[in-house]
Amino acid sequence: MIATSPSASAYERLISSASRKSGSYPGYNYSDANKNSGLIWDEATLQEYLKNPKAKVPGTKMLFPGLKRDDDIVNVIAFLKQYGSETK
Ligand code: HEM
Repeated sequence: MIATSPSASAYERLISSASRKSGSYPGYNYSDANKNSGLIWDEATLQEYLKNPKAKVPGTKMLFPGLKRDDDIVNVIAFLKQYGSETK
């Protein structure tokens, strides 16, 4: 995976996801599906979600189809973990 330069806000939204309740980042207009999913973004949940976001959160407006390869998922999470989370 090649890290390009996403905007600071995109980073913030993803990275601060770790162990936070779904749909709770202040100021972002989430879908009801995401807000009401009741998920906590811990590592195991994020792994399942990234495999198939629409299966884990039916009705989400996240268009990304997910990552089919488990090693890609592990690598993305490792990448995000380098930046920590707001709960630290
Ligand atoms: C590996 C890459 C990605 C990861 C790790 C990721 C992770 C996540 C997570 C954890 C959430 C839920 C955030 C929360 O509940 O606060 C989310 C939501 C969202 N993501 Fe992604 N995402 C990725 C790629 C993408 C891409 C490529 C797009 C756009 C094409 C996208 C668009 C969105 C949108 C629009 C939401 C809000 C969903 C909703 O409200 O239903 N994501 N993402």
